[in-house]
Amino acid sequence: MFPIEECPVGTQRFVSIQGVELAVFHLPRPDGFVAIRNSCPHAGGNLSAGRVANAVVTCPWHEWEFDLRTGACVHNAMVRVQRFPARVEKDWLEVDLSGAGTTVSMQV
Ligand code: FES
Repeated sequence: MFPIEECPVGTQRFVSIQGVELAVFHLPRPDGFVAIRNSCPHAGGNLSAGRVANAVVTCPWHEWEFDLRTGACVHNAMVRVQRFPARVEKDWLEVDLSGAGTTVSMQV
């Protein structure tokens, strides 16, 4: 869906696939690509526009923070953003959206 040079390590992208809006982050190793639902569980903030540090994304609306490795809110682990399994297969990023009802592949 997008060339790898458009999402190098340390950057992120908004992706909408089959009605599912994702924020895809390319974290430094060992984490690699992480895909989460783009909508912040607080009030729907655009997480793909969030600031990222140490694998934690800060929502740009009210600054709730989410650990991208788990999806848990840093300040209240009962609050989570939905994560989707993502892996690189050859030059494609595969995101398993089975939790959202489908599986898709994205070229990276
Ligand atoms: S919408 Fe994300 S912190 Fe409020």
